[in-house]
Amino acid sequence: MTLIDKIRSGEARAGVVGLGYVGLPLAVEIADSGLSVIGIDVQSSKVEAINAGRSYVLDVPSTRVAALVEAGRLRATTDFASVAELDTINICVPTPLRKTREPDLSFIVQAIESILPHLRKGQLLILESTTYPGTTEEILLPLIAGAGLEPGVDVDVAFSPERTDPGNKAYTTRTIPKVVGGLNPRASEAACALYGRCIETVVSVSSPKVAEMVKLLENTFRSVNIALVNELAMLCNRFGIDVWEVIDAAATKPFGFMPFYPGPGLGGHCIPVDPQYLTWKARAEGFEPRFIELAGVINAQKPAFVVQKVADLLNDQSKPLRGSRILALGVAYKRDVDDVRESPSIDVMTLLIDKGAVVTFADPFVDSVKIHDQPVSSVELSPVSVAAADVVLMLTDHTAFDRPMIAKNAKLIVDTRNGFKGIGGSNITRI
Ligand SMILES: NC(=O)c1ccc[n+]([C@@H]2O[C@H](COP(=O)([O-])OP(=O)(O)OC[C@H]3O[C@@H](n4cnc5c(N)ncnc54)[C@H](O)[C@@H]3O)[C@@H](O)[C@H]2O)c1
Repeated sequence: MTLIDKIRSGEARAGVVGLGYVGLPLAVEIADSGLSVIGIDVQSSKVEAINAGRSYVLDVPSTRVAALVEAGRLRATTDFASVAELDTINICVPTPLRKTREPDLSFIVQAIESILPHLRKGQLLILESTTYPGTTEEILLPLIAGAGLEPGVDVDVAFSPERTDPGNKAYTTRTIPKVVGGLNPRASEAACALYGRCIETVVSVSSPKVAEMVKLLENTFRSVNIALVNELAMLCNRFGIDVWEVIDAAATKPFGFMPFYPGPGLGGHCIPVDPQYLTWKARAEGFEPRFIELAGVINAQKPAFVVQKVADLLNDQSKPLRGSRILALGVAYKRDVDDVRESPSIDVMTLLIDKGAVVTFADPFVDSVKIHDQPVSSVELSPVSVAAADVVLMLTDHTAFDRPMIAKNAKLIVDTRNGFKGIGGSNITRI
């Protein structure tokens, strides 16, 4: 039986390496489609949680994990020897930046090196981690060949970018179309067969390189458009125009315009990071990507702009930033998620603390964060904590925040997300 037949018949055994925000939802979808799935992660706490039927990813209910574990369709391990039992292996490990802002592929390389001793003929390896065009062919293929297996002959290889959007109730792993680029037609067909079991729409492209570039186009598109509205927000502020009103009105145009919204800066594991993968690779090829770089520069100005606005508004009340009590609402990088990676809220809070402000935060999803290596804990959001603050600073517009209560009790609200839309009050300033 060929690999493709095994996938289609449901006899294939699937593996997911890296069980984070991307890997766990994927493992659950594949298992739900009827395949038996082994998840592999280096963090034993995650492995133990899954085997105990507990989810640590907000979008994946524990009941789903528990049912699959109980049915024997999902289990997790830290032991890469399980790779030998698998027919397909999806790799979903992190791709951060080094301190030098260069791509850090060490997680991919480590994962592959752990897989290789157990890799055998007839398996399908799919990389899902976001990375620069050429990674699959330039990094994965030589490693596989070095282990004595010929990519495309002994082992099929594909790249399929992950598009998950944590917290998004409208689009889930199952309903977000999946782009697949195989090294050859057989790899594409096998990968499409795997995803076709659990994802509604699968889009095949001609190569891994194209699939890698698709992901970077998508995220660079967001970075550039967010930079444009962030610049317009700073300009509108100078003009005394409410940028949110402008965007809402422009968005009534039914064609040729797509609304993007300003905020306190760029956050998350993807949008601030992925364009840097592209610009790094561009430079390596002797190409200077100025437009993409500029977007990063403008977005990076936003936290300082927010701090300046807070200082100006306090100044209007004859209060200095030093010693003023600032209650930040939300430290997660976006609404209704618990992820603080690259969160601009932390940049804003750090700048405020550096200027002597007394900063606390409230976030229903995050208990504590580290600022200058010191833990800062979430405080309870109550009429008392709101009234005690000189400024309530909305940085992340979580749905759970009780806006009428906050508006009623706050001395001054600075809203960087239009989170108080529809709530009147002379104490609210939208920036
Ligand atoms: N989070 C998102 O919204 C999102 C969206 C689209 C794409 N992506 C991309 O998907 C990839 C994964 O992101 P994530 O958010 O799931 O990261 P994550 O940090 O939540 O999860 C990664 C997991 O990989 C594990 N891991 C690290 N090294 C490993 C190794 N050598 N072997 C086995 N497991 C290992 C970690 O322990 C962790 O559980 C990244 O490339 C990211 O850019 C993320």
